[in-house]
Amino acid sequence: MFASGSHSLCFGMDAVDDADKLPETAINEVTSFFESAPPLTDAAETEICLKEFVDRNTSLSGINGKANRVVCVTSGGTTVPLEKQCVRYIDNFASGHRGAASTEYFLKAGYSVIFLYRRGGCQPFCSLLPDDPLLECFTVADDSIIEMDPLHAETVKKAITETRAAVADGILLKLPFTTIFEYLQILQLISASLRGLGPSAIFYLAAAVSDFYVPWESMALHKIQSASGPLDMRLAQVPKMLSVLRNEWAPMAFYISFKLETDKDILLAKADMALKKYKMHMVIANELSTRKEEVIVVTEQEKVTVRRDSTQAGAEVECPLVELVVDRHSAYIKKVDA
Ligand code: PMT
Repeated sequence: MFASGSHSLCFGMDAVDDADKLPETAINEVTSFFESAPPLTDAAETEICLKEFVDRNTSLSGINGKANRVVCVTSGGTTVPLEKQCVRYIDNFASGHRGAASTEYFLKAGYSVIFLYRRGGCQPFCSLLPDDPLLECFTVADDSIIEMDPLHAETVKKAITETRAAVADGILLKLPFTTIFEYLQILQLISASLRGLGPSAIFYLAAAVSDFYVPWESMALHKIQSASGPLDMRLAQVPKMLSVLRNEWAPMAFYISFKLETDKDILLAKADMALKKYKMHMVIANELSTRKEEVIVVTEQEKVTVRRDSTQAGAEVECPLVELVVDRHSAYIKKVDA
């Protein structure tokens, strides 16, 4: 056990086969990542919110026979700060659309959702809002009255009411991150809170996670000065947290990771490799240019191409994708419970 910020991390508390245990070197890499991370602000508050959320959901009867099912959807890209008082950072591509849309379909399917999202990224129920909602949806009638543009009234009403209802009903918990440090620390807290749900929990890891980072202790405090000439910087490798999550943090959960490539010739081989290496239940392979049209779901038994229904206006690929995930998750729960 080791300390990370204000909370502690545990390895190997459930019965896991010895063969599945992480090698010492992998554990050391994870330990040193968390030891070097700046403590998470609001860690204690986040833990309380998570506990309340999970407790409430384990006591719910659920809809569509989905009682106790909770999915952690990660969404958007993590940043790597280059300075402690951060002016510059390295970013990872992801708008957060996949995570936000999937959250809506999981809620519709009767799941409760912990939405771990990049600050400023796409939000559930908000996909139809214009790019700049404040400026485009409202007009100032006179000095004291702000009016809604009738063109956007229905969309705004739906976004507000559906989001507030899901949060008030205790079936949607939104947790924001910006940096890789925040993302991985919150993910660890989530895994600790979902561990007790066993196979009823899903990790749906759609976030684009940094592979390299500047360790906190070697990071410049102030803005790096350009007058010093070209920047020569060595980045450390972010440990692949999929292994730790899968084998140590919440070993009974159902795991779905994503694989994004721009070269379609290597996409399926990379997805297959991730499936085996990290023992995922599903890897969702997507190509950058077609990611909104189709994805390929890779499992041990099958490769299924899932497409958006292009005959329907506004249809999203996340609709049939989440349907398939729910179906395979139900089969997994049955198998584990048998
Ligand atoms: O948000 P959108 O614009 O809608 O785009 C959605 C998406 C294309 C970002 C999404 O569908 C997607 O593919 N996300 C994963 C991007 C990716 O390929 O990440 P990766 O190869 O760096 O990581 C693969 C998996 O390993 C991911 O599930 C990630 O959570 C995990 N990972 C990555 C790095 C790391 N150090 N530890 C990890 O566990």
